[in-house]
Amino acid sequence: MAHNNFIPVNIPLLNGNEKKYLIECIDTGWISSEGPFLTQFEEKFAAKIGRKYCIAVSNCSVALDTAVISLGIGEGDEVIMPTFTIISCASSVIRVGARPVLVDADPLTWNMDVSQLESKITLKTKAIMVVHIYGIPVDMDKVMDLAHKYNLKIIEDAAEQHGQHYKGRPIGSFGEISCFSFYPNKHITTGEGGMIGTNDFRLAEKCRSLRNLCFKSERRFIHDEMGYNYRMTNLQAALGLAQLERMDEFVKKKRRIGELYNQVFANVKGIQINLARTEYAESIYWVYAIVLNAEIPFDAAEAIKRLEEIGVGARPFFWCMHEQPVFQRMGLFKNEKYPIGENIARRGFYIPSGIGMSEDQIEIVAQRFKIIFNEYI
Ligand SMILES: Cc1ncc(COP(=O)(O)O)c(C=O)c1O
Repeated sequence: MAHNNFIPVNIPLLNGNEKKYLIECIDTGWISSEGPFLTQFEEKFAAKIGRKYCIAVSNCSVALDTAVISLGIGEGDEVIMPTFTIISCASSVIRVGARPVLVDADPLTWNMDVSQLESKITLKTKAIMVVHIYGIPVDMDKVMDLAHKYNLKIIEDAAEQHGQHYKGRPIGSFGEISCFSFYPNKHITTGEGGMIGTNDFRLAEKCRSLRNLCFKSERRFIHDEMGYNYRMTNLQAALGLAQLERMDEFVKKKRRIGELYNQVFANVKGIQINLARTEYAESIYWVYAIVLNAEIPFDAAEAIKRLEEIGVGARPFFWCMHEQPVFQRMGLFKNEKYPIGENIARRGFYIPSGIGMSEDQIEIVAQRFKIIFNEYI
């Protein structure tokens, strides 16, 4: 039964220049994949994340596909990545005939455990796909040291951490290539959308070409290679530009939401919450995440059901790559076990933390949460 006064897991905020810029698209007729907002959005986003070039695409999943192809990763190659992530990471590698090599999650940050990385490197390893999960970025110094030592490429999946920094350096500025998502639950949104960032002119040109069906510049409709239609529209970029203007404000708001929840949950027994900070970064709270400790006698699926019954939207954590039915059917990751990832996938979920949330709504979520967990915590 629908609860009145239901608080959804995400509420975007679109009350800046979004409407004005969209009207401009309609008035000028620039509605497809060319237009002034696209150029501005790419250039301003590049400046924000400390990249020379940015290429706007239709979502982050295809940004990852394009990144992997542009780096020439293919048959027989290996790419190291976390098991605890979204399927887009593994599928981008599998689609080109390469193999994802998995690393378990760190129990505190939930990112890949960088201490396990070196043991996974073989002569076939071409790249490390670094995924910054939920709030705290990956410890990049350790990753970059290995990349230099073994001559590996870095693909940075920064889908969840626009505006985040590692020791003061923007997330998305590391390694050869980085990818972002603008799905509505992200810090800034274009409805659907993604961005590729790089400092390498040749890689940027390759991604631009792949995004646009690899049309030859001298004669349209002649193709030396097969590309894709992964273009972003000027309409989406109009939204993106308006959102980008407020990105710093949104990041502050997300951190404020995170801190308000921390005040409620920090001393609650029986649960683990987002790590607030490490020596290299402050959490950006893409989601406000909770993992149930072993003493809570139910799992995340039950917690989500109970929360939704009393009007609080909640979503489960990622499900590990080695436990994906589709990959098991393909014979991948046989007998591989990653206990930390397996546990957080079953016992982790996140609660409402959209940028459009009011402080009253946060208080209501916290109160409702306590109704369910009071007898255990
Ligand atoms: C880490 C990560 N990578 C990639 C994606 C895929 O993004 P998109 O939905 O834009 O394809 C997501 C989506 O949330 C994500 O969290």
